Amino acid sequence: AIRLHSHTAELRRMLREQRDQGETIGFVATMGGLHAGHQSLIEASRGDGNFTVVSVFVNPAQFGPNEDFDSYPRDHDSDFELAVEAGGDLIWYPEVEDLYPEEAQTMVQPGPLGQRLCGLSRPQFFPGICTVVLKLFNLIQPHQAYFGAKDFQQLAIIQRMAADFYLDVDVVGCPIVREDDGLAMSSRNLKLEPEDRDLALTLYRTITRAQTAFAEGERDAAKLREALVAEWPEGLELDYLDFRDPEFLEDCAHLTEDTRIFLGAWLNGVRLIDNARLTP
Ligand code: PAJ
Repeated sequence: AIRLHSHTAELRRMLREQRDQGETIGFVATMGGLHAGHQSLIEASRGDGNFTVVSVFVNPAQFGPNEDFDSYPRDHDSDFELAVEAGGDLIWYPEVEDLYPEEAQTMVQPGPLGQRLCGLSRPQFFPGICTVVLKLFNLIQPHQAYFGAKDFQQLAIIQRMAADFYLDVDVVGCPIVREDDGLAMSSRNLKLEPEDRDLALTLYRTITRAQTAFAEGERDAAKLREALVAEWPEGLELDYLDFRDPEFLEDCAHLTEDTRIFLGAWLNGVRLIDNARLTP
């Protein structure tokens, strides 16, 4: 496997060579802190027979001024090992100047999809993500790009952007990878204090409660929401608990099999999100 820091021209040259040899290019964008969730995306790309590119870049444009950009996990050696173990062929670590040279100005502004759920409390978040992902798509020119359903809103927004801008890339959604106890894997889980772990599980517990209620016949979103919020524990700051359709993420008053539950919270400053279909 190839490990490349910065050197965008070299990246493009190597990928042109792969395409010329008839390889299809698969792409997994990450911010590092790799875990089994990221690895599942790399494995999916590999399984589809792609020459697989993994980018590792903590994207400043998607962090707010008081967010954890500086303390975000950065371990290039461990990321390289885990990416290669999962089948990555080229691991690229761009520098901020590679993707945001001083003269760069243009940002991608997603529509209403980017303003709800995580977009409400983090207005810079999805414009920052769309901007970096479009830059990466254009540099790497992947045939297929793999994104996790853990960040379901991000996946929906990138699929929307690809359709809206006629991008020649197949955006593939992959299932959420969880710890044995159900906690959705996240690079930020490293920052949880051991004693906070049980509180962090509230998101997953709330999902299974919603799924049980739905299976037992509950169809009234407002009523179910109220019951779930009433059980919400102290010490875990709820950002949102919403029932939405899977494409435009609009509020559902009446629950159906396709409805998804979306949760966002903060635990001692650590951002936690999770989501699932009501019928697993
Ligand atoms: P990051 O949080 O590192 O996630 C990179 C990719 O891994 C995303 O597609 C995310 O959905 C997926 N992923 C993370 N945890 C997962 C899990 N438990 N199960 C399945 N997939 C999981 O998302 C980003 O980085 C950034 O916003 C990025 C797209 C790289 C743009 O900067």
